[in-house]
Amino acid sequence: MKMSHDISLYLIGIIAVLSIGGSVYYFLETQEKQQTIDSLLTERNTLQQAQNQKIAELQVAETTISELQAELTDIKYELDDLADEYRNERDRNEEFEDQIRELAGTLGTLDKLAKTDKELLAKYSKVYFLNENYTPERLSQIDDQYILAGKNDLYFHHNAIKHLHNMFAAAKKDGVDLKIVSAYRSFDEQSDLKGQFTQVYGSGANTFSADQGYSEHQLGTTVDITTPAVGGTFQTFAQTDAYEWLLKNAYRYGFILSYPENNSFYLFEPWHWRFVGTELARHLHRSDETFYTMEQRDIDAYLVNIFD
Ligand code: DAL
Ligand code: ZN
Repeated sequence: MKMSHDISLYLIGIIAVLSIGGSVYYFLETQEKQQTIDSLLTERNTLQQAQNQKIAELQVAETTISELQAELTDIKYELDDLADEYRNERDRNEEFEDQIRELAGTLGTLDKLAKTDKELLAKYSKVYFLNENYTPERLSQIDDQYILAGKNDLYFHHNAIKHLHNMFAAAKKDGVDLKIVSAYRSFDEQSDLKGQFTQVYGSGANTFSADQGYSEHQLGTTVDITTPAVGGTFQTFAQTDAYEWLLKNAYRYGFILSYPENNSFYLFEPWHWRFVGTELARHLHRSDETFYTMEQRDIDAYLVNIFD
């Protein structure tokens, strides 16, 4: 009996010890878990706070970005405005430059015109008068090879002589032998010549010879042309290939026939060619007009470019 009582006590003791141990273990275990949970909760709070702070920072950053974007848009508009202003300014400058250029051109033209002898395109056949003191600005001697054999040296207006030489060279290249009989004649030379003709032909000389002061030859821009075969200023020159060549080509070098058939000043002079500049000569070649049927003011429009 005593034995079983001891065993019972022993068992109760074991159970008690186990119970207490289990409780202590449970208590300790629970406390540790609670601590872990607490620490996790604390950690979560910390993270939450950190996240909130980041969100707040992001919001600030977003606001800054929006503000910067707005500023950028403003700057872009300002830049567009500046670019517009620049373009307008540039256009105004270009317009101004054009005006200056135009003005310079006009001044250049006026200067050129002021320096160009206006007599060179005036009508000298019984219309205008050159006094005895008028001489061309400068004369140059015509190349000997183009002067009719037996004639003295002849002179032509310096600024137009290259056109004369070019025309004669071109004719030569085409097999046409042009020769000059007469070129520049001073007031006095014209006076002598007219006097000689008048002695022979009387007033009939007026039909083919100008009085002194009225001859285009005094301008230095006129030549009388013939061929060696014709040998002088004769109507038969009109039947030559040389005359045909001149009719077809002289305008290219700025020369015109002053006295065509049926003109109202002199008899037909197929030999008498006057330099008027390539522009006016081309105009006359293309139109039905002749130099002496044109209005003087229309002729004068060609003066500025006479030597171009
Ligand atoms: N033979 C022309 C008209 C002159 O003398 O000028
Ligand atoms: Zn002549």
